[in-house]
Amino acid sequence: MPGTIGILTAGGDSPGLNAAIRAVGKAAQRAHGMEVLGFKDGFLGLMQDRYEVLDSEDLSGILTRGGTVLGTSRVKVDRIDLEGKKVDGRPAMREVVEAHGLDALVCLGGDGTVRNALKLANVGIPVLTLPKTIDNDVVGTDTTFGFDTALHIATEAIDRLHSTAHSHHRIMVVELMGHSVGWLALGAGIAGGADVILIPEIPYDIEAVASSISSRREAGSSFSIVAVAEGAISRRDASIRASMAAQMKLATVSEQKSIKHGLKELETTRSGGTVQLASTLAGLTGLESRITILGHVQRGGTPTPADRLLATRLGTACADYIAEGIHGVMVAARGETTEPVPLKKVAGKTKHIPLDHPWIDTARHLNVALGD
Ligand code: F6P
Repeated sequence: MPGTIGILTAGGDSPGLNAAIRAVGKAAQRAHGMEVLGFKDGFLGLMQDRYEVLDSEDLSGILTRGGTVLGTSRVKVDRIDLEGKKVDGRPAMREVVEAHGLDALVCLGGDGTVRNALKLANVGIPVLTLPKTIDNDVVGTDTTFGFDTALHIATEAIDRLHSTAHSHHRIMVVELMGHSVGWLALGAGIAGGADVILIPEIPYDIEAVASSISSRREAGSSFSIVAVAEGAISRRDASIRASMAAQMKLATVSEQKSIKHGLKELETTRSGGTVQLASTLAGLTGLESRITILGHVQRGGTPTPADRLLATRLGTACADYIAEGIHGVMVAARGETTEPVPLKKVAGKTKHIPLDHPWIDTARHLNVALGD
């Protein structure tokens, strides 16, 4: 039976979002005769009832565009910052959903979006999510759209660093995104031929990293490329983090606040840590070092064909699930097909690289130093 659906995009933007909006929208309209509303700026726009009706013209010509035509925001649906106060936005969001008579609300996003979506499902909103993120850290799905594009960009950057590293006999440290996981750094590091790859899943020993670079030099390679995930952590910091996490369990509420702050500082090497890493390696090896922080370049621009294809098949499947009355799920990629996975099986979990993953094995076979 024809109905009305809403679409929003939430969290950090990612290549493939527009391809997914287009796919959900066109399939909902053409295959199922539904009307499609696009809410602006994620859950914030939903709460404020800011939307546009997406007709077939609005959905045309956006397949190849980066970013999201709907805009995005990072909020927690039950703790929205309004004039300095945290408010629960869910009652207002439910009113909007009811006022428009939405049969489904499709939220395109990563792990944070799944957490938000589950909170909305718990107050009776019929919600579905599509897994989007360049980090590839969403559980329950083979992969996420945005990851392949970021992998291409990061690999090209490493390719380009090779010639300049070689000419100047330098250590080139390149920091890649990925939040608390190393999929992007490991994938691009292998594909780009990095000599050292540091990922959060394997805390590194700086002396071991330096000695692998020195061994390369002794064997005749005067340069090294170090691909470091923004969430990579040294062994020392990892053990401080573990003891802080243990303290947290025994701490009072006021002590927890300061421990949380300390944990946040350790959470990621972002920029500051990478600068420090490069200068320590220079000191230990006697080689010059330079850093490249690729940052948001990894999220920009047109999606690769693989991401367009993935976003499109997830989007069209999503429209079919809605027509079947399925909600409370993430539309996961499973081989060449899709599968609706209950949101509660996904929310609050992170897909780290398993230590026995074939990519790790591949890197070790190539003698790539992983810092352990
Ligand atoms: O989750 C995607 C991501 O790009 C991470 O890789 C990165 O840590 C983060 O978002 C950056 O967020 P922001 O857009 O807030 O700078």
